[in-house]
Amino acid sequence: MCFFLSTYPFIYLSIYLSIYLCISPVQPPPLIKGWIPYIGKALEFGKDAHKFLEEYKKKHGDIFTVLIAGKYMTFIMNPLMYPNIIKRGKQLDFHEFSNQVAPRTFGYPPVFSSKFPGMPDQIKRSFHLLQGDNLTPLSKSMMGNLLLVFKQDHLDKRQMEDSGEGGWRTDSMCEFCSKVMFEATFLTLYGKPASKRRHSSMETLREDFIEFDKKFPLLIARIPIWLLGRTKAIREKLINYFLPQRVSCWSNTSQFITRRVDPSSCAHHFAILWASVGNTIPATFWAMYHLVSHPEALEAVRQEIHKVLNVHVFTLKQLFTWRQTHTPVESAVNESLRHSSSSMNIRVAQEDFSLPLEAEQSVAVRKGDIITLYPRSMHMDPEIYDQPEMYRYDRFVQDGRQKTDFYKDGQRLKYYCMPFGSGATMCPGRYFAINEIKQFLFLLLLHFDLQLVEGQPKVTLDTSRAGLGILLPAKDVRFRYRLHSCCPTEHAQ
Ligand code: HEM
Repeated sequence: MCFFLSTYPFIYLSIYLSIYLCISPVQPPPLIKGWIPYIGKALEFGKDAHKFLEEYKKKHGDIFTVLIAGKYMTFIMNPLMYPNIIKRGKQLDFHEFSNQVAPRTFGYPPVFSSKFPGMPDQIKRSFHLLQGDNLTPLSKSMMGNLLLVFKQDHLDKRQMEDSGEGGWRTDSMCEFCSKVMFEATFLTLYGKPASKRRHSSMETLREDFIEFDKKFPLLIARIPIWLLGRTKAIREKLINYFLPQRVSCWSNTSQFITRRVDPSSCAHHFAILWASVGNTIPATFWAMYHLVSHPEALEAVRQEIHKVLNVHVFTLKQLFTWRQTHTPVESAVNESLRHSSSSMNIRVAQEDFSLPLEAEQSVAVRKGDIITLYPRSMHMDPEIYDQPEMYRYDRFVQDGRQKTDFYKDGQRLKYYCMPFGSGATMCPGRYFAINEIKQFLFLLLLHFDLQLVEGQPKVTLDTSRAGLGILLPAKDVRFRYRLHSCCPTEHAQ
């Protein structure tokens, strides 16, 4: 009797544990801690996040927690579960994380604090200035600025002919995209100097930006800026570029920027500069590179441009109004984004709760836990995208319509291509970004014959920035361009 009484607790405990571990739907996910305290798996993760996550997905399934630099991050790897996370915007918040990381990286005080009441709402409202009806003046201005940069730097017939080699010029493709997109985007958002059409210091600004951007992954990984050589000084220089007395002299500044007047606006302007070109430049590169290296895609997009200009009798400046989503160029841009995008969607739990992920499965989430989606794993899933490593410009178009049906385990996916994040915090600049990449491609293909310089290996992705946005090329690639014999200068008005 006594024996039974004393063993009851153990029996109950073992029954409870077996139910909890085997049947209970609320289980903590497997934990991967590594052997280095605090650091955990940060080094392996930082080397190649995609490879790391795919390996642990094979080992542990769709949900697991990893210790990365003192943070326990729970990864949800099955895209069928994404809607359950994305719809919980209040319980799983983006800004708590970005409010810790962005100020430290870009050098401004946290805006979600009692020091700046009303600031978060003001910022959110300003995002509307990148969308809807406000997109038209922005895109119109972008087209004008792209034309300006192209004309002055690349469309001079005499200069092109003087370059020898039958009018062909050779350049590095990522550098070319960077120069054009950096300046045209800058002029569109921040405006031009009072008495000139272009800023004379643009090249120095771009070079400083690139230096800072190289250290961006380390800053995000919480490496103190004083350990990163000249980075702090370069950041100061970049911030000071936006001193109010300077910005106020510029004209044609977008409303999105002029509305942003607060005590720390210089550092904010710098952060917006990073947000607006940090991803757009590599995205433009990949869109161009894939087209130039796939002649059938290049031809389809070229034909589309000529159709738009001839059938609709548009001038180039009117092209900004042309917003169709079921065309070869739209699909080609989306395909290159699918191929190169590697952003993580990070959310912080605001309370303890049980997060249902599948009919039978929930995970216990504690206040402060970090829940992470890694859409690249979905973008590269052969079950969803046939031969995902291949670039297929028409993957997102079917029978003249935008293709939106993609499947996993026989179920249609609500979210299938997520380069711009998800839910309420999805990138507010996404429509502008897609438009500017399309505008760039239109001008490029309309005016130039393009070729890759022969004998170069296929360009691969630089995986060291996995998790942080659009991946850069591991190495730049040389290309040749010359003015089209039938360059339609009459459109360039
Ligand atoms: C191909 C280009 C771009 C890509 C891939 C991209 C991607 C992203 C992603 C993944 C996020 C985080 C969203 C989340 O976690 O839910 C984001 C945020 C943001 N993006 Fe973009 N972006 C691009 C271009 C732009 C442009 C052109 C602008 C502005 C003109 C912009 C402005 C912003 C801002 C302000 C945020 C922060 C939003 C917030 O705090 O709620 N982005 N972007």
